Amino acid sequence: MPRDNVVIVGFMGAGKSVCGRLLARRLGRCFVETDDMIVSRDGRSIPEIFRQDGEDSFRRLEGEVLEELALKSGDVIATGGGTPCRDGRMEALRELGTVVWLRGALPDLLARARRLGGRPMLERAPEEIEALYRAREPYYARAHVTIDTAGLGVDQVVGRIVAALRQTHAARV
Ligand code: S3P
Repeated sequence: MPRDNVVIVGFMGAGKSVCGRLLARRLGRCFVETDDMIVSRDGRSIPEIFRQDGEDSFRRLEGEVLEELALKSGDVIATGGGTPCRDGRMEALRELGTVVWLRGALPDLLARARRLGGRPMLERAPEEIEALYRAREPYYARAHVTIDTAGLGVDQVVGRIVAALRQTHAARV
């Protein structure tokens, strides 16, 4: 039974946080971020977790937080770029409500993510990052709704999400 959350997925720099926060305000819903849940559970920043314990450990924390999301209903949830990209994760997210993929062109995503900083996955070589993006696309593509964000501002992206949610009858708008 879908639990009426709106779950935002996409690569680093896709605008999941900024669009999710605005979407939540517009819909009068609570906004949560899986990365914030990890940080408040663990007590360390994400770069610290990566540096001290490695990526596998971070992915384990991500899995634990995903289980916690099962308690949520009616929220807007922004996930980390890698959250949906393991077997079974997209299925789990789809059970929470409507999953929205914010799709963008890789150079734009990287420029935005680099500007914001604090992303250990971007310390890799450019060809590794490109391979990561290609490997992740099939996971994101399993979202209920895809929004092409190229050339759009935050307001426009949120407008398109709201319109798509109306169509899927998933939002109380
Ligand atoms: C990651 C993305 C980050 C964060 C962590 C790992 C990834 O979230 O979860 O640094 O593997 O793509 P954003 O997508 O919000 O940057």
